[in-house]
Amino acid sequence: MLVHDSAKKKSMEIAFRVRRQTGNDPATYQTYKLDLEPGATVLDALTQIKWEQDGTLAFRKNCRNAICGSCGMRINGKAALACATRAADVVDERGEILIQPFGNMPVIKDIVVDMQDFWKHLDQVEPYVSTAARNTPEKEFLQTPEQREKLEQSGNCILCGACYSECNSREINPEFVGPHALAKAYRMVEDNRDDQTEKRLERYNQPDYAWGCTRCFSCDEVCPMGVQPLEQIQKIRTKLLHSRKLPENTAMRHRRVLVAQIRNSGWLDETRFALEVFAKSPEALLALAPLGLRMLLKGKMPLRHHPIDNFAEVTTLIDAVHQDDYN
Ligand code: SF4
Ligand code: SF4
Ligand code: FES
Repeated sequence: MLVHDSAKKKSMEIAFRVRRQTGNDPATYQTYKLDLEPGATVLDALTQIKWEQDGTLAFRKNCRNAICGSCGMRINGKAALACATRAADVVDERGEILIQPFGNMPVIKDIVVDMQDFWKHLDQVEPYVSTAARNTPEKEFLQTPEQREKLEQSGNCILCGACYSECNSREINPEFVGPHALAKAYRMVEDNRDDQTEKRLERYNQPDYAWGCTRCFSCDEVCPMGVQPLEQIQKIRTKLLHSRKLPENTAMRHRRVLVAQIRNSGWLDETRFALEVFAKSPEALLALAPLGLRMLLKGKMPLRHHPIDNFAEVTTLIDAVHQDDYN
């Protein structure tokens, strides 16, 4: 008799430690034990728990195939899609898997979060091709394969919310639009059918848009679709820095002064840095004065910097990366 390979493999007992909460009530943890087949996903397990052990457990799901983005949650502390995560791959040495709702979004019930801000922030970047200023063509707008290829990576976003959940900037600044919105923003800036590029760049040149990201890499790390939101944000920033039409803001000045200083001396001279970046804002300079004094007293602001070793290499590297950015 033929025996299929998977039938030979044993099922394994896994304990799911699930965060339970309704609205703002205090959270508790409940553990459910299951015997699972080796190929079972975390979503299979949660569905089995709901059907067989506890019908009150709340979570979202739909396609079960990493397409709809509904089943996002924190698995062992990190945002992921439950339908794309095999339980056997994430179970810890105690035989346990920790299940929690996404971060940066209020809990409605258990693993279901309120995504209103997520959608609101997406809307803020106007994530649709605008042809408002054009005559509608008789045929569709055609694109070359090269023009289309530029949109593919950001176009793969399934709006699951994993990046938004783990975004450090979003955690400290609730107005920051988030990685999902900025990945979509890049798609719009790059789309040759859109006729609002300048207006878009003006909007994205704000502290709550492209300059709000602290480049922590969390979004790239958790995105299940390889969108790499940080990479798309960097591409928007490059466009902003190269735009001759936009006035220089503090974020742009910060970057220009930093690169110029390192290129000229290999050192970041913090006193000069603050003076140059905030030259136009006496209030900001005044606010930094106590910090400057403390740094001076701790010897962290030497009056003279010795040249660093291999300074020529630093200059060559910076020149190779981008000539225009500090001009
Ligand atoms: S890299 Fe930027 S956008 Fe991405 S998670 Fe970090 S702060 Fe947020
Ligand atoms: S960028 Fe990736 S992680 Fe963020 S919403 Fe889109 S698919 Fe999900
Ligand atoms: S259920 Fe659709 S992405 Fe997981």
